[in-house]
Amino acid sequence: MAVLLIRMAGDPVLRQKAKRVRTIDASIQKLIDDMIDTMRDAPGVGLAANQVGVPLRVIVIEVPEEDGEDPPPGEPPRRQLYTLINPQIVKRSGQRQPDEGCLSIPGYKAPTPRSVSVTAKGLNRDGKEIRIKAENNLLAEALEHEIDHINGILYIDHLESMDQLVKIEDENEPEDEVKASARGGHGP
Ligand code: NI
Repeated sequence: MAVLLIRMAGDPVLRQKAKRVRTIDASIQKLIDDMIDTMRDAPGVGLAANQVGVPLRVIVIEVPEEDGEDPPPGEPPRRQLYTLINPQIVKRSGQRQPDEGCLSIPGYKAPTPRSVSVTAKGLNRDGKEIRIKAENNLLAEALEHEIDHINGILYIDHLESMDQLVKIEDENEPEDEVKASARGGHGP
């Protein structure tokens, strides 16, 4: 397991339409493990394989559990991890505009047009077909965001204007260093 380098906007691999995975072999299992490590290290709620320089149709998402029991006091909320190979959106409906960011565009966010209800399908890491339905939550947003990634699309492509981008303030840094480092790492 390893934390991989996240590619930044401007890197051509982010604009490639990623290729389908033909065989879920040991190299794909390692890629998935490394993507999970990289997502958690960032930290982010999702990651697509081309964000770590591998143009294959693999995404990982980890979001807080919505229906889970409350964790014991002092423990962080439980999180649900999803791995999808060759994912596709089979149904989407409704419109909303959540604030969105991206690990490949650190330090910024913008209200981004997204669907209310999203159903996606794909293979899990055991090669079994799974279907995920999400409504009006971070999971729905992440499914659209990450599946966009493997099609070479970034969330900024959905904005009417780059003027909609808002800088994320990093409260841990002195004011004048924020611009220089421009690290935020909120989004998927
Ligand atoms: Ni992203």
